Amino acid sequence: MIKPQQQQINGFSKLDKAQRRAWLTEQFLDPSARLILKQFDLPDDSIQQVFDGFSENTITNFPLPYGVAPNFVINGKTYAVPMVTEESSVVAAASAAAKYWMTRGGFHAEVIAAEKLGQVHFRWSGRPARRAALLDELCTRVRAQTKDLTQRMEARGGGVRGVTWKHLPEVADDCYQLLIKFGTADSMGANFINTVLEAYGAELQTWAAESGSLTEEERDLEVIMAILSNHTPNCVVRAWVSCPISEMALPKNGVDPHEFARRFRYAVEIARQDTYRAVTHNKGIMNGVDAVVIATGNDFRAVEAAAHAFAAQDGTYRSLSRCRVEHDRFTFELTLPLALGTVGGLTKLHPLAKLSLDALGQPSAEELMGVVAAAGLAQNFAAVRSLVTTGIQQGHMRMHLQNILTSFHASEEERGATAAHFAGKTISYAGVRGFLGR
Ligand code: MEV
Repeated sequence: MIKPQQQQINGFSKLDKAQRRAWLTEQFLDPSARLILKQFDLPDDSIQQVFDGFSENTITNFPLPYGVAPNFVINGKTYAVPMVTEESSVVAAASAAAKYWMTRGGFHAEVIAAEKLGQVHFRWSGRPARRAALLDELCTRVRAQTKDLTQRMEARGGGVRGVTWKHLPEVADDCYQLLIKFGTADSMGANFINTVLEAYGAELQTWAAESGSLTEEERDLEVIMAILSNHTPNCVVRAWVSCPISEMALPKNGVDPHEFARRFRYAVEIARQDTYRAVTHNKGIMNGVDAVVIATGNDFRAVEAAAHAFAAQDGTYRSLSRCRVEHDRFTFELTLPLALGTVGGLTKLHPLAKLSLDALGQPSAEELMGVVAAAGLAQNFAAVRSLVTTGIQQGHMRMHLQNILTSFHASEEERGATAAHFAGKTISYAGVRGFLGR
């Protein structure tokens, strides 16, 4: 019988990996778990150490499948797009959509803007009307004081692009914010931005204490926090595909191209207008986006948070993609914010993230934004295409069959027999169980 943990454990992070495993197993798991934990250790100690350095309290690794979707033509260049995902049929769907569009002009992508944002929130006892008069002086000071921090980024084409000072009376009468715009070149820039913001915060405090232009009352200034914003509505990429409807034949299911385009546009319009559908539709987009973001060592939580805020920017959560059918031409496009880096962070440290970027030809951050957006659009195209033609389960369950068989510990022979039995038939968990007699 496994005992629940009785006492607080202190110094867990100071234990070595074997001790942590032993503790976890004793407290919460069956003794056989130790073997499983060990099984996922990397054979190369030096690489294992790199992984252990990424996080804390590590006890083993948690592998995810790493695949590639070939035949992606984006702005005329062909890519094999690396994707990390645990969901069956995501890579297959992206590959199928990439192949489909390869012969129809490929994907197009353009970066609309690549600006990041950071905020310093503070409490200040001055009058709101005074801030315009003081902003220049403040900016000159903070910029001068943080020159050492920004110099290298400026040499790479980034740096601080502008500062505005806002009053937030909805929080409190004395609540203010510095909103700072950044360029971060090929890095995602989180560490750079946060370091600069904290220095801005410290200088803001010094300015309040020292500036001759402030009244006694205005010297009462308290910095509350300094952190980047993951809302990046000015770090946006647009990807699209377009071709004459007459070229949109779907050979496998023989659907008339005009019928297909009409149903497809209709389905996307539902996702523009109905939030319940929009969330699922966007989840399909993020299936592709996240898979490439993870494979390239980028921050998928930041990308997710930004995408959903962007999807709700007019107050209603809507589909991130749009479809137009005009003059017998079908156009499908996706606009989304993507704060990505191709230098810094995990991009060089994680051997597979580095490999992904090598496979993509060491793209700039802006080129990677185009690749990720194209993967999201491809995924969305494949999902909606299935939804408005065959339904999603046909393809999905075919891919999922191997997982179902694994859950029944099926032998090689049973796997072959099940695949043959269900060829051309609808696959379901219950159906497979019945066939295997489990
Ligand atoms: C499943 O992971 C994603 C879909 O539900 C997306 C969609 O409905 O558009 C198939």
